[in-house]
Amino acid sequence: MNPQIGSEIAMKASARAGANIAFVKYWGQADPELNLPLNNSLSMTLDNAFTLTTVEFLPGLAADVLRLNDEPAGAAATRRVMAQLDRLRALAAAQPAAGFGHNPALNPASWRARVESRNSFPTGAGIASSASGFAALTVAAAAGLGLDLTPAELSAMARLASGSACRSLHGGYVEWLAGTSHADSYAVQFAPPEHWRLVDAVAVVSGEAKEVPSEAGHRLASTSPFLAARLATVDGALAACRAAILARDLDALGEAAEADALSLHAVALTSRPSVWYWNCGTQAVVEAVRAWRRDGLPAYFTIDAGPNVHILTLPEHLPAVRARLGEIPAVKEVIVCGPGPGVTLLSEHLF
Ligand code: DP6
Repeated sequence: MNPQIGSEIAMKASARAGANIAFVKYWGQADPELNLPLNNSLSMTLDNAFTLTTVEFLPGLAADVLRLNDEPAGAAATRRVMAQLDRLRALAAAQPAAGFGHNPALNPASWRARVESRNSFPTGAGIASSASGFAALTVAAAAGLGLDLTPAELSAMARLASGSACRSLHGGYVEWLAGTSHADSYAVQFAPPEHWRLVDAVAVVSGEAKEVPSEAGHRLASTSPFLAARLATVDGALAACRAAILARDLDALGEAAEADALSLHAVALTSRPSVWYWNCGTQAVVEAVRAWRRDGLPAYFTIDAGPNVHILTLPEHLPAVRARLGEIPAVKEVIVCGPGPGVTLLSEHLF
């Protein structure tokens, strides 16, 4: 666990976390400091879109160092990672870490870290890399610090870095319980990945970073006159999605997920200033999915805070969905995912 490297003591751990796609989405915050959401959200953790992260705490390192996808990370990403490491170091300082707490000289709570993180999917592909990235970072750093945290505590800690990251702690179908304080706002598994092999085919229509980060979108949500209407429908949407997942009913899940995505985008569009995440490619894919359905091909769309379209379907319809997406010029790439596992600690490290 705490290997000796040469004469140095190093606390190193690695984790793998999947991204997730929400059917009932998190949009708007009750507390922007703590990332407490206005509503519960319900998602599927993805198998084929994940982040691998290694964190090593080292005595004598002057500052945290972050590499993302084999390149030195930019200032904004480094700051966000440092803030999460600081939160975890503060916990480690408060509860002397198991295994080396008896010797203060070996407590890494004040040590800086070297962090390497790699995504299995292209950055900017409309798959939330902050969810998988901060879930993997939180679990690897907590292990590196020797912290003993429950799954709920790890999920709540991940939430502080990125709201949707709290859902990536768990595999399969996951609900984030909104809660009213840091300790009671965390995610729980609703059904395991093997419960239902739903497909999320991500139609990438833009590889560029979105203009308005979700953080800014959340903060603007309260300026929309439609936010209250969205929140009034969320409990019904959650109930419909839970029932649809339990019954493995694509049509019921798809209808509820489409309605929820459209309600999020209605809030974004009517915020002041207005937030537009769709582009022409988004519109082309949405129109196509609606037309396929009229032709009898079961497929539904959902869209996060960006232009790319997640198409929900079943494995037997995937070849048809892929073929038809191939006919839409705006679609640059299709990334096919199913339900995946929760965060796992790895015995192999990235460095
Ligand atoms: C549209 O979790 O990315 O994907 O807390 O600022 O990191 P931060 O926000 P984030 O917001 C996710 C928004 C969403 C909906 C969802 O995944 O529930």
